[in-house]
Amino acid sequence: MLAIAILAAGKGTRMKSNLPKVLHSLAGKSIIDRVLSCTQGLRPNRRLIVVGHQANLVKESLKNHKDLDFVLQQPQNGTGHAIQQLSSKLKGFNGELLVLNGDVPLLKEETLSSLLKFHKESSSSVTFLSASLDSPKGYGRVFLDESGLVKEIIEERDCTIEQRKNKLVNAGIYCFNWQQLSDILNLLSRENSQNELYLTDTISLLKKALHYEVDNPIEVKGINDRYQLYECEHYIQEKLKFFWMKRGVSFIDPISCSLSEDSTFGTDVIIEPQTHLRGKCNIGNGCHLGPGSVITNSTLAENVLAIHSFINEAAIGNNTSIGPFAHIRPESNISKNCKIGNFVEIKKSVIGEGTKINHLSYIGDSYLGKSINIGAGTITANFDGKNKYRTTIDDYSKTGANSVLVAPIKIGSHVTIGAGSTISKDIPDKSLVVERSKPTIRTKSD
Ligand code: UD1
Ligand code: CA
Repeated sequence: MLAIAILAAGKGTRMKSNLPKVLHSLAGKSIIDRVLSCTQGLRPNRRLIVVGHQANLVKESLKNHKDLDFVLQQPQNGTGHAIQQLSSKLKGFNGELLVLNGDVPLLKEETLSSLLKFHKESSSSVTFLSASLDSPKGYGRVFLDESGLVKEIIEERDCTIEQRKNKLVNAGIYCFNWQQLSDILNLLSRENSQNELYLTDTISLLKKALHYEVDNPIEVKGINDRYQLYECEHYIQEKLKFFWMKRGVSFIDPISCSLSEDSTFGTDVIIEPQTHLRGKCNIGNGCHLGPGSVITNSTLAENVLAIHSFINEAAIGNNTSIGPFAHIRPESNISKNCKIGNFVEIKKSVIGEGTKINHLSYIGDSYLGKSINIGAGTITANFDGKNKYRTTIDDYSKTGANSVLVAPIKIGSHVTIGAGSTISKDIPDKSLVVERSKPTIRTKSD
């Protein structure tokens, strides 16, 4: 039997933030979400999350995980006190309790599997992850006896100067035999510099304590402040860019770009400076993104160009060019060979093959057919102050500069609309329509 407990009740004082520490995000995912996802494959019988500081916010952020059992720790008197709150929940539980600090987000599932395996084979009371760090600052130090068993963990602030030189640190990931742990859990004392109950003090109280050193110390990096948050973000970004470079993506200035783990790229994609991909994006072969584009949850087919533009929850077809300075908003589907030019905003619209919207337009709640030319400054007036209405324009039509199409409206195919027209009724196929008042021209009398 395996139960997993994640400690996420702390305030995260060193973050200097109104947001609970575990809700800060790394490459678009919260720290706690990352910790949780490395436990998925271990097939635990139970997953418990200890919450306290802003408990509701933390719970809300995890509401999609239906199996979680939240345990309230109020007040937050330390990591040992957090585990004491599990006693009633785990009454009669007979098995291993894997405890994860909620602020260690780069951990790999394989490492946890190895830890569990090692723990079971050694039949120890507790086995925890350790790492040898060149700069162990901030971590609890691990002290061994002559036989290699762990004698104790001493928090940095409780260490002597000599003890601080020890580079072997506690990663905050422990596998306990729950029966043995619960027997000594009430023996913890607050005699330490923080006047808290430390989970680390259980180590010297248990019969047999072992540590399991990780190969790559970055995996056990804990986040206590904004600099460590940045270090983890940097690590994730470097890894992602390296991965995609190996698969045929060029970055002109990778340091200025960011990627999400859920995005994929074809080959010969060029990513120019200050371009960011967020959420789940699928970018096809030969796309050229940036400089200065932000693409979120979107699919770009092949050879799409997107310069200085925002594309959000949209699909873009082959050879279409977007920008500079275009804003493609959710539920937009732009076909192949289109041109969406500068200062064009498109929202919740379908744009047919080969259609051009080159300058200064707003197209919202619309369906546009193929090979349409939208003149500069054409606006779909889709909102009457209360409701939104749809605009349809059929194939091969043209709107003149500064046309306003008042929705709901249907413009047929092969229609030409004269510049400056405000059109508020449907126009049949193959018509020419101009709506314009007669100019009044008078001679000026100085
Ligand atoms: C802890 C360990 C330290 C280890 C380090 C690894 C203790 C006493 N120290 O120190 O040996 O090297 O992690 O990263 O455990 N939390 C609660 N309730 C509380 C206090 C904390 O749930 O009352 C949670 C926090 O939200 C956090 C985790 O426990 O997710 C760790 O707490 P934190 O205060 O960051 O411990 P460290 O000082 O980093
Ligand atoms: Ca920490």
